[in-house]
Amino acid sequence: MFNRTRRTRKDENIRSLVRETRLSVDDLIYPIFVVEGVGIKEEITSLEDNYRYSVDMLDEIIKEVEDLNIRGVLIFGVPEYKDECATSAFDENGVVQRAVKKIKEISNLYVITDVCMCQYTSHGHCGIIEGNDIDNDKTLEYLAKIALSHAKAGADMVAPSDMMDGRVKFIRRMLDENGYKNVAIMSYSAKYASSFYGPFREAADSKPQFGDRKSYQMDYCNIREAMREIEYDIEEGADIIMVKPALSYLDVIRQARDKFNHPIAAYNVSGEYAMVKAAEKMGYVDGEKIMMEILTSIKRAGADIIITYHALDVARKIK
Ligand code: PBG
Ligand code: ZN
Repeated sequence: MFNRTRRTRKDENIRSLVRETRLSVDDLIYPIFVVEGVGIKEEITSLEDNYRYSVDMLDEIIKEVEDLNIRGVLIFGVPEYKDECATSAFDENGVVQRAVKKIKEISNLYVITDVCMCQYTSHGHCGIIEGNDIDNDKTLEYLAKIALSHAKAGADMVAPSDMMDGRVKFIRRMLDENGYKNVAIMSYSAKYASSFYGPFREAADSKPQFGDRKSYQMDYCNIREAMREIEYDIEEGADIIMVKPALSYLDVIRQARDKFNHPIAAYNVSGEYAMVKAAEKMGYVDGEKIMMEILTSIKRAGADIIITYHALDVARKIK
């Protein structure tokens, strides 16, 4: 006698009955890039099937997202002008602020905004530059201002992605003091300095003009440090914590799941998406199957929420 695990793999009926992890449309958040201007819907070269939209062109994609029963979108802005301190990021008529207003008007979607400075600064860094470094504490005041302007526009949740110390606390306090107690914070808690962000930086025009982001984003060799980042963000009031990127960081997701009781989001980032699309185009892999396998692995690792450029494709497949 020996154990026969193959019995429960015999056919699709029994495989489905014993299946441990299921991807659901309810898990997905779709990132959308909004750009200044009118009449714009331009494909992002490195992010096939994803576009930059001007605010007036959002109707179609928002309807599509809603029709597929995807619950949330994450908004990234591509502004018209950049300066040293990201003024266009907290302009009440800025591109994100107008996009949020519009999406809340035309849909019931849950609207999340990325809170950062890199698309809006002339130097492309995620904070205020002092000499050769980022002034962490000065940056916090700007981040809080940006978050507040998004809340005023109607955002349901703000998502700081800058990796400065103390930002969750600062943003929470600013929101509370201004009557936005119910606006939630999803913190990019364990965000690594990663080469997987390449296509995004093209999409959002947010490349650092000098140096790199290693003094604020995490060293990819570290996992204990990620647990500290998450712990601090939870102490400061984050409602959802995030691990980013996802695929090369499944161990980080798993450890966070085992250690903390907060909802965990994983960001299946631009480079992860672009590699699947490129390999598919070359005929090396079945793109749709690879997509399902990757996203399921992120869920199996312990993520509750997956932010992904594949969202529409997955939703079409599993709905
Ligand atoms: C901005 C930001 C980045 C991403 C999300 N917000 C890029 C970066 O930190 O350089 C990456 C998302 C992706 O690659 O899909 N701070
Ligand atoms: Zn940034």
